[in-house]
Amino acid sequence: MTAPRAPAAPIASPFQRLAALVRDVAPGRPPIDLTVGEPRHAVPDFVAPILAAGIADFGRYPPIKGTPAFREAVAAWAERRYALSTPLDRDNGIIPLNGSREGLFSAAIQAMRMREPDGTRPAVLLPNPFYAVYAAAADAAGAEAILLSAGPETGFLPDVASLDPALLGRTLALYYASPANPQGAVAAAETWSGLVDLARRHGFWLFADECYSEIWRGTPPPGVLQAADRTGRYDRVIAFNSLSKRSNLAGLRCGFAAGDPAFIEPWATFRNVAAPQVPIPVQAVAVAAYGDETHVVANRRLYDQKFAAAAARLAPLFGDVMPPGGFFLWLDVARFGGGEAVARRLWAEAGVKVLPGGYLSADGPDGANPGAAYIRIAMVDAPERTDEALARLVEMLS
Ligand SMILES: Cc1ncc(COP(=O)(O)O)c(C=O)c1O
Repeated sequence: MTAPRAPAAPIASPFQRLAALVRDVAPGRPPIDLTVGEPRHAVPDFVAPILAAGIADFGRYPPIKGTPAFREAVAAWAERRYALSTPLDRDNGIIPLNGSREGLFSAAIQAMRMREPDGTRPAVLLPNPFYAVYAAAADAAGAEAILLSAGPETGFLPDVASLDPALLGRTLALYYASPANPQGAVAAAETWSGLVDLARRHGFWLFADECYSEIWRGTPPPGVLQAADRTGRYDRVIAFNSLSKRSNLAGLRCGFAAGDPAFIEPWATFRNVAAPQVPIPVQAVAVAAYGDETHVVANRRLYDQKFAAAAARLAPLFGDVMPPGGFFLWLDVARFGGGEAVARRLWAEAGVKVLPGGYLSADGPDGANPGAAYIRIAMVDAPERTDEALARLVEMLS
C-alpha cells in the first residue's frame, strides 16, 4: 500500500502523540486527565426530556438544511448575542453541523469547489498553533496550508494584515479562531473588521471558528458576524459555533455555520449528498439551548471560579496566566525543559496528564515550533480536581 503524500502541515491527533509519549510511564499519583477540551460540567436539565419527547423523530432522516425552528433559534441567538441589525438569512444563511468540526472540514472542500482556477496554487491560511482539522481540511481540499505564527509577539493571534499581497491573492480561505485554542486570545472588533475587509478585497473565505465564544472572562468576545454586520452584509464570512463548549454538549454533536448565503446555499446542496445530517431531536435540543442563557451563565461562573483559583496558585511561578477567553491554560514551561519534557514528568511524578503545546502546532517557515515551549491545560474538570492538579504541577516545578 502506498503511504498518503506528505501534507504541508502535519496531520496527527495530539492525543495519539501524547499516548505515545507516555506509553512507558505509569502515573506517579492517582491520575487526573486535563488534556481533552471536553467540558465535564453537567449536561443541562432540559436535554433529556426533549430527547425523550422527540424519540420517534430518530426514525426519520433529518433535513440537511435543518428544521425551520433550528435555523430561527440560531439566527435569533446570533442576532441577540452580537446585536446584529442585518438579519441573518433564515433560508440560506444558516446550516446545522454535526459539531463544528465536520463543518470546518467540509467548508474548505466547498471553497475549492467554488474556486475559479487562475493558474495559481490556492492557499489555506491557518494559525499556528492550530486546531488539527484546519490542516486536514487544507490537505483534503488540495490547497497549500500556510501556517501563521500566533505567539506572544502578535498577541497570540496571527498577523494576517501584514502578509504578502501575492499570498493573500491566492488565498482560498483563512481559518481564524477567537477565542483561540489553545492560547485563549480574543480578537478585537477592529481585528475582525480588518479581516472581513481583507477577505473581500482578496476574494477569500473567512472561516471564523468561534466555538469558545461563550466561555470568557470580563467582556464577551466580539464576533465576525458583528464586524460584517457593520457593513450591512455577510459576504465572504462564515461563523462556526456549537453547543459543545457553550452548553457542555460535546457528545451531542450539534453546531452551526452562519453567514454568507452565496456560500451556504451551494454548500447545502453539496452536503445533501456528502455530509452527515443532524438528528431532528438534537436540533430540538439546540432550539432550547440557544433560547436559554441561564445554564451558560452558570457554566461561565464555574470557569471563573477555576481560573481565579488557578491565577492565585500559578502567579508565583508564571505571573499572569489568565486568558480572556476559552477554557485552557497555555503555560510557557521553557525554563523547566519545554512542553514535552514537562508533560512527561508531570504524568510520571504527579499523575497529571496535559498536552505538550508542540503537539498542537508545527514548525513554521523559520523551522521553529511556536508551541514547543508550552503545555496546554484544559480547565474542564470539577473545581477541586482542577485545583488539585495545579497544586501538583506547582509542587513539582517549585
Ligand atoms: C478550536 C476548536 N474548534 C472547533 C472545535 C470542534 O468542536 P465541535 O466539533 O465539538 O463543535 C474544537 C473542539 O475542541 C476546538 O477546540
